[in-house]
Amino acid sequence: MRALANLLVDLRSDTFDEAAAAAARGRLAARGFLIEECERDDALCAWIDLAFGGGWSGEAYRSKNLVLSHGGQPRAFVSLAAQGLRYAWLRNEGARPGTGIFGPIGVSADARGNGIGGDLALLGCLRLRELGYERALVPAVGGLQLERFYERALGARVIERIDPMRWWEPRARVVALASGNGSNLQALLDAVARKDLPIDFAAVVVNRSAAYAAQRASVAGVRSVERVLWNRETESRANYDARLLEIVERFEPEGVLLLGWMHLLDEHFVQRFPELLNLHPAYLPHDPRADSVAVPGGGVIPAFRGARAVHDAFAAGTAWIGASVHRVSAETDRGEVLVRRPLACEGRSESELATALRPVEHRITVEAVRLWCFMRERVRVV
Ligand code: GAR
Repeated sequence: MRALANLLVDLRSDTFDEAAAAAARGRLAARGFLIEECERDDALCAWIDLAFGGGWSGEAYRSKNLVLSHGGQPRAFVSLAAQGLRYAWLRNEGARPGTGIFGPIGVSADARGNGIGGDLALLGCLRLRELGYERALVPAVGGLQLERFYERALGARVIERIDPMRWWEPRARVVALASGNGSNLQALLDAVARKDLPIDFAAVVVNRSAAYAAQRASVAGVRSVERVLWNRETESRANYDARLLEIVERFEPEGVLLLGWMHLLDEHFVQRFPELLNLHPAYLPHDPRADSVAVPGGGVIPAFRGARAVHDAFAAGTAWIGASVHRVSAETDRGEVLVRRPLACEGRSESELATALRPVEHRITVEAVRLWCFMRERVRVV
């Protein structure tokens, strides 16, 4: 795990005057780039997911964005003045009045190497200044090369260094709930084994006796593997829900991960464990109220919520499917999306689609749990 640095930019410095802005705009226009500003733009978020992956589209969704396009296609973006993000590195300077959050900034692979990143960064800072901010925080910068870039382009200086060990200890105690094969659980167990994820599985709970997830947990050395089965002939659903809650409570988890958990959890469970993440096999919109979602390259597909998302997407004949990891709220599959990824259908059959989606899910599951670790209350940046 790399050390990270928070950098600060003084927006009142001479670097950010109108002449510099005009020069940057001129250089971009000469190369044929169009500059636009947008907010809560679903199509931009879809492009970001495809071009950069990870959690950036969620950050862009909560920000104002400057977008550079060329030939009608986005090529670069910078997010500004994000609101409502929970990352630990935003808790000090990022929460100070007068400080605007700068980034993420991304230039697509086909547009790199011609200096547009520096011009876009400069225009981003100018926009933050126009919005009334005095300082810009460039958070969680990984590596000296990037630090140098921000120093050169924006006159930024390092104000906090974040020791990577702070993300690791204490590790987050989690309980995973799984109903089936457990390949996503395996992806997390593997990431933990390669010291790539600071979590500790206090328990894995399965609700089917044949769930292979239980074997995977035992082989990986998870201390407790609980089988909480429901026989609907002999036990009421309310009793089963109470039993499940009590068992998970016993492990005092900081977070609960739903990895192919095929029972809806009742409201007590959702209230009791607010740090509750769910993997869902569909490309979900960042707006939890939306019932459709923009996909890369233009177009909109339904937000396939519910238990048969891949089947429903296939039956609807959409050109894209996808997967998302989101926080669980009272309404099914409508919590905040942490990480999501689209996958082009490309004429595949339903079972081929399910197979192709698997590695996509494994990847976003690890990415999302890592992001969640960065949001933990217990993580402090000093
Ligand atoms: C995954 O495809 C996951 O998205 C889905 O169950 C599968 C579990 O795979 N979850 C849901 O449908 C939840 N509504 P796995 O057992 O191999 O990890």
